[in-house]
Amino acid sequence: MNDRIAVIGAGQMGNGIAHVFAQSGFPVTIIDVSAAALAKGVATIEKNLDRQLKKGSIDAATQSATLARIGTHTELAAVAECTVIIEAATENVGLKFDIFSKLDALAADGSILASNTSSISITQIAARTRRPEQVIGMHFMNPVPVMQLVEVIRGIATSDATTERTVALAKAVGKTPCEANDFPGFIANRILMPMINEAFYCLMEGVGTAESIDTVMKLGMNHPMGPLTLADFIGLDTCVAILDVLHKGIGDPKYRACPLLRKYVDAGWLGRKSGRGVYTYATA
Ligand SMILES: NC(=O)c1ccc[n+]([C@@H]2O[C@H](COP(=O)([O-])OP(=O)(O)OC[C@H]3O[C@@H](n4cnc5c(N)ncnc54)[C@H](O)[C@@H]3O)[C@@H](O)[C@H]2O)c1
Repeated sequence: MNDRIAVIGAGQMGNGIAHVFAQSGFPVTIIDVSAAALAKGVATIEKNLDRQLKKGSIDAATQSATLARIGTHTELAAVAECTVIIEAATENVGLKFDIFSKLDALAADGSILASNTSSISITQIAARTRRPEQVIGMHFMNPVPVMQLVEVIRGIATSDATTERTVALAKAVGKTPCEANDFPGFIANRILMPMINEAFYCLMEGVGTAESIDTVMKLGMNHPMGPLTLADFIGLDTCVAILDVLHKGIGDPKYRACPLLRKYVDAGWLGRKSGRGVYTYATA
């Protein structure tokens, strides 16, 4: 595959996606409106590659070749040279619509326009372009270098050719693609977010402390981490954004975000990425 990849957004997901594509031999341009986010994203990739080197899962040559394949840009126009564009900007409907309408004007003919959205309708995002057949959901899991799954979501107009190319790309970076239909939250977050939300209700109502809620789910259900720890990993702002999409899209009050979860976000307690969420972390 001779694809050149653009990743839009250098946050937790964007830098992970750039990492796995670059490590698999693809040239990658990361684009973010914030130069500080780009610097932080590249620093995270360097730190994660160092960890892989120390563990012996990559050698020094792979580490330096991976970094050499990554470039950064603050202008969306940099997508013009790329054949695959993966948008991983903040989970906000208006923002994604705006990015995709700009991509339609800037991206080369025939390029894949993928979104890593956790919940927003691929059909609606695609409708912001004049090429909905090339728009698809490519939903990586966090942390991207570690997690095996890529949920592949077809919008109503996504072509078979776009789906086949996306499935092949996921396999080319060592992941396992799994197709989902375009309904709010797709498969992963339709099931995960109500559990995380319920954990926040348990915390708010004093059913248990954060530690006891997480311990019950870890030891009782054999989950690798508790739902509140996982929410901090995902980002509490992202959890609220996904629940809002589920609530609005499906209309069932069971998806209404827990007031305590919203309060944490209002306080700027966004989880690991801000240094504090349900728990506190040494580094932001
Ligand atoms: N966090 C998770 O566990 C997770 C998992 C799967 C998918 N996702 C999805 O991935 C996307 C990104 O999530 P994240 O956790 O990396 O968020 P994040 O807050 O860590 O990063 C978002 C980045 O987008 C950048 N950005 C904002 N507007 C932009 C624009 N117009 N152009 C370019 N960059 C812009 C921000 O500067 C920031 O660096 C969201 O759609 C989210 O739902 C998140």
